[in-house]
Amino acid sequence: MRLFIGVAVFLLVQTVGHGAPADGSRPWDDRSLSADQRADLVIAQLTLDEKIQLVHGIGWGPLKAGSPVPASNNGGAGQLIGIARLGIPDLQQADSAVGIRMAALHGRYATLLPSVLGAASSWDLEGAHLYGDVLGRELRAQGYSQSIGGGVNLAREPRNGRLFEYAGEDPLLAGMMVGNLIQGVQANHIMGDIKHFALNDQETGRTVVDARISHKAARESDLLAFEIGIRIGQPASVMCSYNKVLGDWACENDWLLNQVLKGAWKFPGFVVSDWDGTHSTDKAVSAGLDVQMPGEEFLGAPLKESIHAGRIPLARLDDMVHRLLRSMFNVGVLDFPSVPRGVVDPFKGLEDAQHLAEESIVLLKNAAVLPLDAGSIHSIAVIGAHADVGILSGGGSAQVDAPGGNAIDPRTPTQWGKPVYFPSPPLRYIREHAPAATVRFNSGTDPVAAAALAKDSDVAIVFADQYMSEGGDAPTLLLPGKQNDLIAAVAAANKRTVVVLVTGNPVSMPWIDQVAGVMEAWYPGVGGGQAIANLLFGTVTPSAKLPISFAKSELDLPHQELFDVVPRTPRDESDSKWVEDKRKRESFPANYTEGARVGYKWFDSEGKQPLFPFGFGLSYTTFRYSDLHVDAAKRTATFTIANTGARGGVEIAQVYVALPPKSAEHFRRLAGWQRVTLKAGEQKTVTVSMEPLTLAVFDEKKDAWTWIPGSYRVSAGASSRDLPLQAEAKLY
Ligand code: BGC
Repeated sequence: MRLFIGVAVFLLVQTVGHGAPADGSRPWDDRSLSADQRADLVIAQLTLDEKIQLVHGIGWGPLKAGSPVPASNNGGAGQLIGIARLGIPDLQQADSAVGIRMAALHGRYATLLPSVLGAASSWDLEGAHLYGDVLGRELRAQGYSQSIGGGVNLAREPRNGRLFEYAGEDPLLAGMMVGNLIQGVQANHIMGDIKHFALNDQETGRTVVDARISHKAARESDLLAFEIGIRIGQPASVMCSYNKVLGDWACENDWLLNQVLKGAWKFPGFVVSDWDGTHSTDKAVSAGLDVQMPGEEFLGAPLKESIHAGRIPLARLDDMVHRLLRSMFNVGVLDFPSVPRGVVDPFKGLEDAQHLAEESIVLLKNAAVLPLDAGSIHSIAVIGAHADVGILSGGGSAQVDAPGGNAIDPRTPTQWGKPVYFPSPPLRYIREHAPAATVRFNSGTDPVAAAALAKDSDVAIVFADQYMSEGGDAPTLLLPGKQNDLIAAVAAANKRTVVVLVTGNPVSMPWIDQVAGVMEAWYPGVGGGQAIANLLFGTVTPSAKLPISFAKSELDLPHQELFDVVPRTPRDESDSKWVEDKRKRESFPANYTEGARVGYKWFDSEGKQPLFPFGFGLSYTTFRYSDLHVDAAKRTATFTIANTGARGGVEIAQVYVALPPKSAEHFRRLAGWQRVTLKAGEQKTVTVSMEPLTLAVFDEKKDAWTWIPGSYRVSAGASSRDLPLQAEAKLY
């Protein structure tokens, strides 16, 4: 009987919304109405104070020691108090870029997924959806209503400390991956977010740097990633960033928020400030900011005063509240509240994380050394990067707590700026794959000892890692510390040396010609050790391709130095450790003179050879491309791919387009792709649709996208630099 009553109450809560009276006094509970209509019905009942309450948070809460934490707080980075008398729940926001932050602090567990940059290396839209689904279902289990992840800042600066939270350098790939990720989050009735809007492309001086770029170039690069991501994901909110753009802070930037986001793109959701990214009341609200986080300095009492004084019309406040409420109704946080809270399923989380890692690890070099054959190898040296105990994760607000504590330092709680290793030791899983071999570990702190072990082994696997975190950038592209020396020493001792990189960012590889194999594992998440071992031994065939170019050195980048008003001199190139940038400084410009030529577009138009190009990645099998046909009317490219090797595999087939000469562009643009699964010997004909915005140019005079009539060169192949199929077509 008790069980029956329990189930009945649960069903009632699910059906009519949490705590709703059944007398029809809450007409917004009617699900047949649109989200906009439901929001307006609520607004009609709100007092001025209640409206103000809905446009700001409660303060830093659990993020800062000493800040008040209301009893209703769920432990996330942000909380906005709802209107209990009307059944409008609090907004409970959690950082969840690569998994839910601060779980351990609240006695919970959350799955650490591979980095977003890693996931973007899969080019797998279903995988991106799954990624968001893991986040959404775990946020739901933990009682949250909003994810504040969805990072899609374009990788304009390869040393950016937050690249691991973002989806690479191409606006189509990044926008589509993050858009699908957001769909996965919101399918769980958890509000999604996309951030950081916009041009927050380096962490050095992030609260004062002023991004300078033309409207045209911005619309064709960084903003295009947002445009596509928002179109696909329809997130509840857009988080405006800390930096300035063309002289105005992003959170009070009329061009970004009113003109582009809400005007051109007709974004119906709310703009939320990054934490302490609000700088004014009237200017910010007039420019399009809807919700201040985490506190109320500008959108609390000062906003009420501005309304009374007539500086901000009441209609604008209603619009702000409408945007918040319509997003809540639209995603279903009222109809499907994330209460009662539960626990996440760690097994399902691990399974999903490992699957995503296995399709995100990029095989960059393989001189006939991989996959390792456990039957013929007698001894393996595993070296470096704490591979005996764990695998590195990214830091900052994207830090997920490791189960059992930091694998290299279990007793120390998670600290901002301190590397956290997850208990997924590659050594253990390498041993599992090669039970008959002698597998020995060397920490790599002494290159001479490491080289001696390598010399005495059939194969040497060197792990090298790079800790990255919000708040700072990598001063150089070099691996931090003495790891380049370590790799060179091991490679000199053993020809069969394989390097496994566990990095947030692309790195340069001065030793590339000396090693037999290289795998970029990014931050592979809680199943990282298992995934790496499965790829090394060929249980899984690598399929990932780079979502970002790897430069040989800084000399080939558009900007050899990070923008910084205080030059970092003298600079010690050998010590590229991550440094948090805490200096309070005057604003300084970041002149993005490369414009829309981000990443491979820069390398291609400048005629520079990257170390590894965008879209590149090897497999344990081989593929052949043939027979390209372009349907100009449908804007599709059809071609055949054959698996010409002895194993099954997945090929990420890419289509690039060069615009007609009138564009004056000297590079190709990624226009579409398809992941194709092929058994050994199998072939398939695939048709790839070309995204119209990747064929467009932004016309500043018309303030609109336009298409140049003429002949477009369409290319298809395995990477941005390996395009065997070419055709000309009048696409417009
Ligand atoms: C970060 C955001 C994050 C917020 C809340 C800020 O420092 O830039 O990405 O969501 O903090 O933790």
